[in-house]
Amino acid sequence: MAPSGFPVRLGVNIDHVATLRQARGVFEPDPLAAAHLARLAGADQIVLHVREDRRHANETDLRRLRETTSLPVNLEMALTEEMAGMALSFAPERVTLVPEKRTERTTEGGLVLTPDYLKSLTSFAERCKEKGIRVSLFMDPDPVMLGRIPSVGVDQVELHTGPYSQAFGSPGEGEEFARLSAAATQVYRQGLILAAGHGLTLFNLPRILSLPHLAEVNIGHSIIARAVLFGIREAVSEVRSLLLAPCGGGSR
Ligand code: PXP
Repeated sequence: MAPSGFPVRLGVNIDHVATLRQARGVFEPDPLAAAHLARLAGADQIVLHVREDRRHANETDLRRLRETTSLPVNLEMALTEEMAGMALSFAPERVTLVPEKRTERTTEGGLVLTPDYLKSLTSFAERCKEKGIRVSLFMDPDPVMLGRIPSVGVDQVELHTGPYSQAFGSPGEGEEFARLSAAATQVYRQGLILAAGHGLTLFNLPRILSLPHLAEVNIGHSIIARAVLFGIREAVSEVRSLLLAPCGGGSR
């Protein structure tokens, strides 16, 4: 349960559906269809990472998402002029700022809040406020970096659970969890909403749910990976049924 007594919110990241679509350069699987199905299954928000290189989701996905889903949208993005313009024009309910490297396969670490970054963040957060967009920061469980978060303009912190998920089941798990737990308390004391995400699965999630003050988790890869496997039986059966139908298959 979240501190409010409500269940922890679930954000479903649909980038991975877009990755599959881009692998073929066609129109399916459509991430928007995935968003609608996720909503029907109980997702509380849809997460979309529009990367600078558009390697998976793009602005058309974001526009269609804004136009057709009733769920809140959490746009993950790097804080660049181009992305800031996109966020302000589509006005998702939330923006999660992440660091971005062209060569990385997925987000590799939390934000580094340098004085320059904080300057850009403050000005972006002011513009977000005018548009009613909430600002979340993707952060490592690092007390020094968390301590640099400005006291105005930022609503939420999403703690990077990647190192915990990698250490899960190994002797290092306890230490990674302890870092997250201390960070969770710090985030709460700084008056910010607490989210967690990256590398979360059915197996490593239960321990994360015991983090103090947790309000939200954002999950992508493991949900889509399981969806692909669970869907194979049905997809193959559909084709098999067609082959068994009176006009399908057999010698002519
Ligand atoms: N949260 C953030 C900030 C992310 O960058 C990602 C990956 O796009 C996720 C959550 C979801 O991570 P995963 O796909 O490993 O579940």
